[in-house]
Amino acid sequence: MSINQADLTASRPVSASARNSGEHVLGTGPLELLVSRVEDLTPRIRKFELKSPRGAVLPLWTPGAHIEVPVALATGLETRCYSLMGDCELRDVYEIAVLRHEEGRGGSRFVHGGYREGMRLRCAYPSNHFELIPNRAPCVLIAGGVGITPIRAMAIALERHGTAFVLHYAARSPRETAFMQDLGDRFGTKVRFWHSEGDCPNRLDVASILRAVPITANVYVCGPPGLIQDVSDTAVGLGMPRSNIRSEMFAPAGPAARDHAFEVLLARSHTRVQISADETILDGVLAAGVVAEFGCRAGQCGACAVTVLEGEVDHRDTTLSDDERIVDRRACICVSRAKGTRLVLDL
Ligand code: FES
Repeated sequence: MSINQADLTASRPVSASARNSGEHVLGTGPLELLVSRVEDLTPRIRKFELKSPRGAVLPLWTPGAHIEVPVALATGLETRCYSLMGDCELRDVYEIAVLRHEEGRGGSRFVHGGYREGMRLRCAYPSNHFELIPNRAPCVLIAGGVGITPIRAMAIALERHGTAFVLHYAARSPRETAFMQDLGDRFGTKVRFWHSEGDCPNRLDVASILRAVPITANVYVCGPPGLIQDVSDTAVGLGMPRSNIRSEMFAPAGPAARDHAFEVLLARSHTRVQISADETILDGVLAAGVVAEFGCRAGQCGACAVTVLEGEVDHRDTTLSDDERIVDRRACICVSRAKGTRLVLDL
């Protein structure tokens, strides 16, 4: 998935701007949408339907796309990206589903608590960094938790076009499995549910799943970082071409317990920033008063990418290509870190 670059800016003041009749609209994006329906899918995942306030046809999108929506945090107005999860041929509604992250920076908590039916939002246009590969090879779709959202849209499109696929969906328990009935009804034996908790746990076994499909299959995975790593390492280990493996992370690959502190030198700003083990480069840069662009803060949009002048990067984004990382020396500073003790950035 990708993000609409037009609206990727640093934190802005909260602006509930008035438009036309003086109604309040949250956000500054070019696409105005109305929250038309709110529904709980699981205890922690809430679905939101978004429509044109004037009943207009919505801009086109493709499976794997996301939309960037506004969230009002104590620090100002920010945006968050959520995958579109419905049928891309339905042109009057966008559907997103949001997992409430208690430990996150507050975006999902704001959406859960703040988005109400009738509320107007100014969003970015849909954008896609997680597209289906345009061929008829059989597909393996793997979703972890709320990572089902783009995968569901992909499955609907593949089914419509008659492309062979299997969908594996891992969640903690049936209660935490969004769309269980819907997916079963739509796709029958093409969908398989895996639950790590409950009376009869049956854990997702990535190796068995990938061994059972042709080596030329297209593999799509969306979920937490560990699942994505497992799928990509296993697929590559089985000889599947890297170019056939596409992924999207639904949770920010933020600092982990194994991370270490390092120093970042901002060459253009002549600023030296110490990044602690539990802080991102982006947060350190912003705290130092240096202006930096960003969008998703999750390694998905590329808005925060900067050129690395010196040092080795531990890349954790899911948006930059190998060429962008190796040839252009770009790095997404919202999630990526230094492998060593120092990075020099063109910032
Ligand atoms: S802000 Fe989106 S990749 Fe960093």
